[in-house]
Amino acid sequence: MVKISVNIENSAAFADRKIVDNLLPEVLAAKDHLLKGDAAGNDFLGWVNLPEEIDTEMLARLKNDVSRLSKKSQLLVVVGIGGSYLGARMVIEALQSEFASMEPGTHPYIVYAGHTLSEDYYSQLLHILDNKDYSVAVISKSGTTTEPAVAFRIVKAHLEQKYGKDEASQRIVAITDARRGALHDIAVQEGYPMYVIPDNVGGRFSVLTPVGLLPIAMAGYDIDRLLQGARDARQTCINENTLDANPALMYAAIRNALYRKGKKVEIMVSARPDLRYLAEWWKQLYGESEGKDGKGLMPHSLSITTDLHSMGQYVQEGERLMMETFLRVKSPAASVPVPSDEQNLDGINYLVGKSLTEINDCATQGTIEAHVDGGVPVVCIDVDHIDEYTLGQLIYFFEFACGVSGYMLGVNPFNQPGVEAYKRNMFRLLGKPGF
Ligand code: PA5
Repeated sequence: MVKISVNIENSAAFADRKIVDNLLPEVLAAKDHLLKGDAAGNDFLGWVNLPEEIDTEMLARLKNDVSRLSKKSQLLVVVGIGGSYLGARMVIEALQSEFASMEPGTHPYIVYAGHTLSEDYYSQLLHILDNKDYSVAVISKSGTTTEPAVAFRIVKAHLEQKYGKDEASQRIVAITDARRGALHDIAVQEGYPMYVIPDNVGGRFSVLTPVGLLPIAMAGYDIDRLLQGARDARQTCINENTLDANPALMYAAIRNALYRKGKKVEIMVSARPDLRYLAEWWKQLYGESEGKDGKGLMPHSLSITTDLHSMGQYVQEGERLMMETFLRVKSPAASVPVPSDEQNLDGINYLVGKSLTEINDCATQGTIEAHVDGGVPVVCIDVDHIDEYTLGQLIYFFEFACGVSGYMLGVNPFNQPGVEAYKRNMFRLLGKPGF
């Protein structure tokens, strides 16, 4: 059962419950388009049924490859960008220790490439790879994206030099289109194990395909629980038709209500640094889905309390552009009490006996109250804890809400024509033939 709840109380002064309830017919019409596949972008709706229709043979093969590669790898280099990168990183960073890179674990540590063109980044990466046993997952739906192509060429050359061509080809897995693209052709020629990104699943909706599943499993996390969470969330998302019973519909309704009231920016706020990549994934999901035709809430994110000491001033008193969505997690995995100190020179003995979670929750509640008073409507998304299951639920919840919200906004949520503009300029500047 879904354990995600969306609380809109702190938005009532900006869009009251009646305004939100009045959107229900529109919300249900948008949901209907998603389920019937009769609106713009309907050739990219493969994600809607993905958790139910996952190919079990593919999953078994994937687990075999994961086990084979894990035995001989201290590191896995995940080469990819955007939707071919953020989903895996979001789940892995949410589940692993913040200090995982410093403690040798029983599973490979995941490092990333292809998401940047920084020369110093690759120089540092190659230096680390010199001294570690590693494998590579190269991920590109189109198979032609420049950043991962450049990164893969660099890492592949290093791998082949380190292990020889034959062993290198046993250490690479390619995740790409079933039929076309440069990566597909390289993988076929070199004999890499291949996994397919379905044609009807766009990059930003692909975390529950091998794109996310393979790196997440390599990091040692339970992809069956992730998929189960998504399956359970799907049941609620597709079967429930009231705002109270279906949190995805509530979230789509409130963000559209606030957008129509003039809000231009939505800030995802979390008080846990391990959720920063969840916010990055969410930014791509909502930014690429809705930011078009001159419309859409601009997704932004803050990690509190850190960013209260940098961006807090702007949110409190700057342009009244924004709404905030707090992603709150009730139960921590561990407890760290504040120790008492006889001298109390720092003056914080009044906190003794409280857990850090109580203190963090008070900081969060204090922030919500301050921001609402300052003219920022706040939506709260609450989950009990963070594990594979709740992350699977959150993934499906955010995807479904995104589809509904995009249709309510009147855009095609499943294309991203604007992503091409910088590429044309870059190709011209680099002298690529034909540009
Ligand atoms: O959403 C999108 O389509 C993009 O942001 C892609 O995820 C990104 O450009 C990577 O594309 P590809 O997987 O084709 O390399």
